[in-house]
Amino acid sequence: MNTLIIKILKALPRAIKDPKRAIELFRRRVFPFGLTPKDSEAYRIASWSYGDLPRVNFKSISKDPKVNTLTLLNVFDRTDDLSIDILELTYLISLIKIYKAQNILEIGTWDGNTTLNIAANLDEQGKIVTVDLPPDSKGDFSLETPDMLKNLTDRHQLGIQYKKTKFESKIKQVYGDSAAIDWKTLGGPFDLIFIDGCHAFNYVKSDTENALSVLREGGTMVWHDYGMIKDVGLYLDQLAKKLNIVVLRGTRIALATSLSKKEIQESLKYSQNSIKE
Ligand SMILES: C[S@@+](CC[C@H](N)C(=O)[O-])C[C@H]1O[C@@H](n2cnc3c(N)ncnc32)[C@H](O)[C@@H]1O
Repeated sequence: MNTLIIKILKALPRAIKDPKRAIELFRRRVFPFGLTPKDSEAYRIASWSYGDLPRVNFKSISKDPKVNTLTLLNVFDRTDDLSIDILELTYLISLIKIYKAQNILEIGTWDGNTTLNIAANLDEQGKIVTVDLPPDSKGDFSLETPDMLKNLTDRHQLGIQYKKTKFESKIKQVYGDSAAIDWKTLGGPFDLIFIDGCHAFNYVKSDTENALSVLREGGTMVWHDYGMIKDVGLYLDQLAKKLNIVVLRGTRIALATSLSKKEIQESLKYSQNSIKE
């Protein structure tokens, strides 16, 4: 039976007991106009409205989504506007555990908090390669990029959160423009690739194509800022015609898991013809 109908049937006895409250809850749910969220988080999440992909529950992405222990480091030293948020971090690390990913690639290091947390959750032999523009970058982008989407971060903070920690040996920092570096030299094939660099259409497309060319068969692709940045949605909605991409509810994370060789090759070919519409 439809889950909505089941929910309504379950709620019915309580609604009969207190119809006034039931009507009020129903009105707030169906007609939220005029309600002022008291929590600024509600505004933040409400703005993640670009893109047409289904938003799914994390538990639905795997037959065995059980994760027992996660290590979370420096969680209150994160910059929400620049880093993924704590729920997104929790899901990203859980994905790594569920799919037993050991060789990870991250595009977009920023201060390295996410890099640190990924490294802290890998097995002994696991490693992560993370790419960002060079420390002396003046913000030149090799692909044509609207100024609004040039997101060069403070160069003094690059990777500072993982440097001098016991996890630094698991991390390889690569400096360069993601569209100009040679991805073949990064140390693939990778089990999981997290794309969170420049979010302009050209870059999401280029990063994705490069990523698909160094992704291991059976590997997982993860993109950040779906729903929040229009270009990410414009590109991924097209790619989703070839690839089963879903978005995790309550987050800006889009992902495609367990990609077969055929899916990798076909989506790569498909992507090469995609244009910003
Ligand atoms: C949103 S931040 C990454 C956040 C990080 N993944 C986290 O969760 O903490 C994006 C980063 O991508 C870098 N970046 C932007 N354009 C880039 C490019 N063309 N090549 C490589 N890195 C780029 C920026 O300097 C910035 O540090």
